[in-house]
Amino acid sequence: MKPLNVAIVGATGLVGEEFISILEERNFPINELYPFASENSLGETITYDHKEIDVIVLKEEEIRKRKIDLALFSIGAGLALEWAKLFTECGAVVVDNSSAFRMDPEIPLVVPEVNGHVLKESRSKIIANPNCSTIQLVPFLKLVDGLFGIEKVVVSTYQSVSGAGKKGIEELHNQVTSLFNGRSVKPEVFLQRIAFNLIPQIGPFFEDGYCEEEIKMINESRKILEKPELDIDVTTVRVPTFYSHAESVWIELKKSCDLAALRKKISESEEMVLMDNIEEMLYPTLVDSSGKDEVFVGRLRVNREGKKRLSAWVVADNVRKGAAYNAIRIAETIMGDMHE
Ligand SMILES: NC(=O)c1ccc[n+]([C@@H]2O[C@H](COP(=O)([O-])OP(=O)(O)OC[C@H]3O[C@@H](n4cnc5c(N)ncnc54)[C@H](OP(=O)(O)O)[C@@H]3O)[C@@H](O)[C@H]2O)c1
Repeated sequence: MKPLNVAIVGATGLVGEEFISILEERNFPINELYPFASENSLGETITYDHKEIDVIVLKEEEIRKRKIDLALFSIGAGLALEWAKLFTECGAVVVDNSSAFRMDPEIPLVVPEVNGHVLKESRSKIIANPNCSTIQLVPFLKLVDGLFGIEKVVVSTYQSVSGAGKKGIEELHNQVTSLFNGRSVKPEVFLQRIAFNLIPQIGPFFEDGYCEEEIKMINESRKILEKPELDIDVTTVRVPTFYSHAESVWIELKKSCDLAALRKKISESEEMVLMDNIEEMLYPTLVDSSGKDEVFVGRLRVNREGKKRLSAWVVADNVRKGAAYNAIRIAETIMGDMHE
């Protein structure tokens, strides 16, 4: 692939910073790197490849005067809707981390190891990166479906505060400090107090009682797995941890589950790590997945009453595997194909 001019749009945020680290680690071929952020970051710099680069305020003239090949977006859905089209009009391919385009039938929603083929079939200049909780779930579902067939899925999530960006991390940190010092706390980012608490709501509620994050996971899983009728139910919970998300996954299968075959397949997968040995108390925790690219799987067990029911514990780094790493793998695939 020839070196590209790459814009990171939201470069000062949690996902933006992770983009920069992963581009460096993977020696992504970059000619110029353009870090865009808001007016608040005017005068700040980011470090890339031992060089300090000035942050650029996101403005039309700043986009038009540069020849950008690839724009990695992490600025939220409203701003993505406002700015992505301009980048594509100016010749860039956009990989967007927000929910703005995910359910648009014309726009691919991709986890490369699950449905990477859609990138070859689409001519869209915008590619959507799925929700962090969806990205870690679907590779496991795809693998289980291939072995035994999936009848129904029930998931409960345990999602760290970094899922809400830098301000989420600050809120947990500040609340813990305040409570230890005997001061009261007032929720601002999260809907309830998050310190020493669990919040069974992520995003606003719909009339039927589901919250936004639950519906995102349901709809996105169906689209990525190309199973519009997939029977899947989700409860999403914000937990007072800083990094990584965990999911308790219960699956009803079409065929009896052979745990040995399942463990073998997970071990052979490049994008998954099996941590499943109860004799050694081996199972993934959030800490195991932090800073890693893979999905970690453990606590595999078949229901005592029937061999067609499987339970699992699935963990991944939400900012890395659940956002920046997945987006960069999408970019590597499409830009590689375009420059072959
Ligand atoms: N955190 C996760 O686990 C995760 C996972 C998957 C997807 N995502 C998605 O990724 C996006 C960013 O998340 P994040 O966690 O990185 O959030 P964040 O830490 O709050 O960062 C937000 C970024 O957007 C920039 N921004 C805000 N308003 C802007 C404006 N008007 N013009 C230009 N830039 C602006 C900020 O720049 P300033 O610093 O200048 O304000 C910052 O660089 C969201 O869509 C989120 O849903 C996040």
